[in-house]
Parts: sequence; C-alpha cells; structure tokens
Amino acid sequence: MTIHKGTAVVTGAGRGLGFGLAKGLLGRGWRVVAGVHGEATGELSQLQQQFDGALLIVSIDIGSDESVKQAAEQAVGWTEQIDLIVNNAGVLGDIERKLPDELDFDEMLHVMNVNSLGPLRVTQAFGSMLLRSERPIVANISSEAGSVGACGRDSWYGYCMSKAAVNMQSVLVHNQLKSVGGRVLVLHPGWVQSFMHGELNTSARLTIEQAAANVLGTIEDEADWPDVDGKPPYIDTEFKERLPW
Ligand SMILES: NC(=O)c1ccc[n+]([C@@H]2O[C@H](COP(=O)([O-])OP(=O)(O)OC[C@H]3O[C@@H](n4cnc5c(N)ncnc54)[C@H](OP(=O)(O)O)[C@@H]3O)[C@@H](O)[C@H]2O)c1
Repeated sequence: MTIHKGTAVVTGAGRGLGFGLAKGLLGRGWRVVAGVHGEATGELSQLQQQFDGALLIVSIDIGSDESVKQAAEQAVGWTEQIDLIVNNAGVLGDIERKLPDELDFDEMLHVMNVNSLGPLRVTQAFGSMLLRSERPIVANISSEAGSVGACGRDSWYGYCMSKAAVNMQSVLVHNQLKSVGGRVLVLHPGWVQSFMHGELNTSARLTIEQAAANVLGTIEDEADWPDVDGKPPYIDTEFKERLPW
C-alpha cells in the first residue's frame, strides 16, 4: 500500500541527499516546500520551471528558531496542509578526535543544535499544517550512527550523540502523531555520495539518486514497516532492514 501523495517539506534541499529527495518527490507527484540553507542552487531553480507551481523554495537555517518560523510562515501562503516532513538537513562535525584528545564542545553544541533540535524546530513550526493531514508523516533522516545498540565507534562524538537524540525525539513525536492517525519513520539512508565531509564524497556506495529512491520508496511504502512495541520503525533504507535502537 502506498501513501497518498500530498505536500511535503524537505530540509537541506539545496544539495546532497535533500536535493535528491526534493527532486524525487516532485517526480513522484508530490508538491514540495524545499528548505534551502543559503542560496538556492541553479539545479533547484530549474526544478521550479520543470514542475511549475509544485515547488516552493524557502530559505531555512534549522539551527535558528527565527529562521524556521519564517520559513513556515512563507509556506502558509502557499499551502494549507503538509502531509510529510522530511527532516533531512544535518552536519557531521569532527569525526577524528578520541579521548584523551581535546574535544571541541562548542562545535558539538552546534552539531547537536542542528541535528537534534533542528528537526524538532521544523516539526513544531510546520506542526499545525501537518495536523491538517489525515495521515501526517514525519520522516527523520537519522543514521546508523545514532544506534546505541550497533555502536562500535570510539570517536564521532557530536554526530553519534546528536543522531541518538533525534531517535529519542522521533519516538516522542511518534507517540503523539499516532493518536491522530500519523506516524514517524526514522531512516538511515546508507553511505551516500554527498557533501557531508565538505566536498563531494565519490567513494561512498550510493549515489544521491539511489539513496533518494531508497528513502522515498520506504516512505511511500510505510505500511510495510509496522510499529514494533509501539516504536516507530528505525530502518536502513538501503538494505531494507530494521536497526537496533
Ligand atoms: N552521507 C551519508 O553517508 C549519510 C549517512 C547517514 C545519514 N546521513 C544523513 O543524511 C542527511 C543529509 O546529509 P547529506 O549526506 O546529504 O549531507 P550534505 O551533502 O552535507 O547535505 C546536508 C544538507 O543539510 C544542509 N544544512 C546544513 N546545516 C544546515 C542548517 N543549519 N540549516 C538548514 N540546512 C542545513 C546543507 O546545506 P549547506 O550545504 O548549505 O550548509 C545541505 O543541504 C543528514 O541528516 C545526514 O546526517 C548521511
């Protein structure tokens, strides 16, 4: 069973996986509010011409209350209802330092602010529009790096902790949304050729298009992923398997 195609919000849509998700959603017949950090790229503007009237580009810094509120206000004039929020935007931060190296706690706070609080800011700001949907869905792009159960790393402090926190947030939001017929999906997109390390990482396994197709297939076939013990599904979208929390 696939879900009704309505209006989606995608953050971090300027490049990387977020761009692929925005493009993929438009191609699948969704209307899209594309949240861009900084200037919209030419590629995104081209999509506006290709999918006339189906794409709204808004500027958004998910680390800022004010910016997220302004983005939601812009969307209010364009759509009454949101059916899907894809919280995709994220940052990596330092992945090298181990104890007893000096750790950069200010940078970690930034990573936590963007990766953990950012998705909650977005879900909150677009929340009243989301609750107009009969089937409100929030897809949080987390990572296998947020799994406590699968953790074998001894560095990546900010990133892993921030993704573990977004996993907890996802359960909290899910507990509320399921009472009104909605749900949250917690998704690991696989190892993607994106800009997380500062420049395009061509050695990663999945192209943007492949990863976006996997993520969108999972979202649209969300009925394939029932809750277990009331928890939202935490899914590796490449290998189509559940991850341990
Ligand atoms: N790449 C992987 O292998 C992998 C694996 C697991 C999970 N993920 C997750 O997938 C998601 C997408 O990452 P990606 O791989 O596509 O990396 P990416 O190419 O670096 O893209 C991240 C996107 O987030 C945006 N962003 C960063 N800070 C932001 C902020 N404060 N407000 C709004 N947008 C912001 C970036 O915009 P600017 O570039 O303009 O800052 C960019 O569009 C992330 O949540 C990441 O954790 C990725």
